[in-house]
Amino acid sequence: MISINFKNAFSKIKRDEFKAQSQYLERYWNQFESRNQGFYKILDDERILDQIEDFYKNLDSSFENFVILGIGGSGLAFKSIINAFPSKTNKKFFVLDNVDPTKIARIEGQLNLKKTLFLVITKSGKTPETISQFFYFRDKILNNKLDQKKHFVFISDSGSFLHKLATKEKINFFEIPSNVGGRFSVLTAVGLLPAKILGLNVQNFIKGAMQVRTRFLSKDFEKNIPFQLAALQALHYEKNIKQNVFFPYSEKLKRVGEWFVQLLAESTGKINKQNKSVGITPICVLGARDQHSILQLFSEGENDKFFIFLKILNFEKNLQIPQITKMPVDLDTDSIFGFLRNRTFGELLNAEFEGTCGALTEKGCPNITIEIPKINEENLGALFFLFESSTAFLGEFLAIDAFNQPGVERSKILTKKILENL
Ligand code: PA5
Repeated sequence: MISINFKNAFSKIKRDEFKAQSQYLERYWNQFESRNQGFYKILDDERILDQIEDFYKNLDSSFENFVILGIGGSGLAFKSIINAFPSKTNKKFFVLDNVDPTKIARIEGQLNLKKTLFLVITKSGKTPETISQFFYFRDKILNNKLDQKKHFVFISDSGSFLHKLATKEKINFFEIPSNVGGRFSVLTAVGLLPAKILGLNVQNFIKGAMQVRTRFLSKDFEKNIPFQLAALQALHYEKNIKQNVFFPYSEKLKRVGEWFVQLLAESTGKINKQNKSVGITPICVLGARDQHSILQLFSEGENDKFFIFLKILNFEKNLQIPQITKMPVDLDTDSIFGFLRNRTFGELLNAEFEGTCGALTEKGCPNITIEIPKINEENLGALFFLFESSTAFLGEFLAIDAFNQPGVERSKILTKKILENL
């Protein structure tokens, strides 16, 4: 089970201030509950897993390519999963989450359409980036006299264009429950259907999420870790610490960082009840790599960031750095590199984490560490749910609706106008 270490989080705020936030737990819970959100209720909906199981049983075993057409929450969900669990079979997965023609053409060039399944994922069923790509590949499938029932599966809202088309053309359809928003949908068919095809134990994602949900549902401040995390982020926000750095020391969590960016940015960047613009800016970096790019700024630039480190306790593969043999140079390599001798790369990476965390703590930069015993489905499910549920509370702290995104509408209207007038 994942755990959070808060010990370095009190350089800017006092422990008493933090504990005092417990007074808001019940009130914020009630406020949040009145928003009728489904991301925490869907974990109990066994029909989702049953439908995934049925689909998987009947999946054509000759399929080799699986192309996800989806953007925002509809693309990032599986992107973060596949980055953590790369395919171990001959199945190839592609996430087309942009309309850059060079990317579409590059991926198309790798596909044998006869052996390709397209998973069209769009909650609204009308996102132009996704729908335009669906139109494109639908044309290819039909022009090649292939059966679209076999080559497409839709994941969308009930009543959407895709739902209507699926009903008419008898295409497999998975519903995204209406009260589960795009960036909160990773634990529905959006993330879990492609995860199942990838060969993962999808039940375990739910199991891990449920463990955190028990905390989330608790009215006891000491137990409610998602509330504590939100309280810390909000208190720092009040003290002008308005940037959160997602800092995993794990390649496998790199894309979870991209998912986190969408979740935090789109949920908190709002005009609040007092008509004031608010929002936490997420920054996503990777340890140890980015110690050699951005750490200098974190360390000696403005102390205006809250750091969320993620540390893996057991790496799946732990390679040994060998004994240093005599090098043909006129240097005492043993005294220069001796500290690496017989260490594993996992030890080196985690020592780099300790070093960076220690150095930032010495500078008074507030940080927390999420410790993950190992990367598996259960712990990833727990991690997704931890951030979803703390973001829900964060919305109440900031007096905003964390579940809408009115600010992106204008750009969509202008884009449409521009295309209409070309
Ligand atoms: O969180 C959200 O709802 C959005 O960011 C969506 O994920 C994104 O806009 C894609 O929308 P859709 O799934 O409707 O295609």
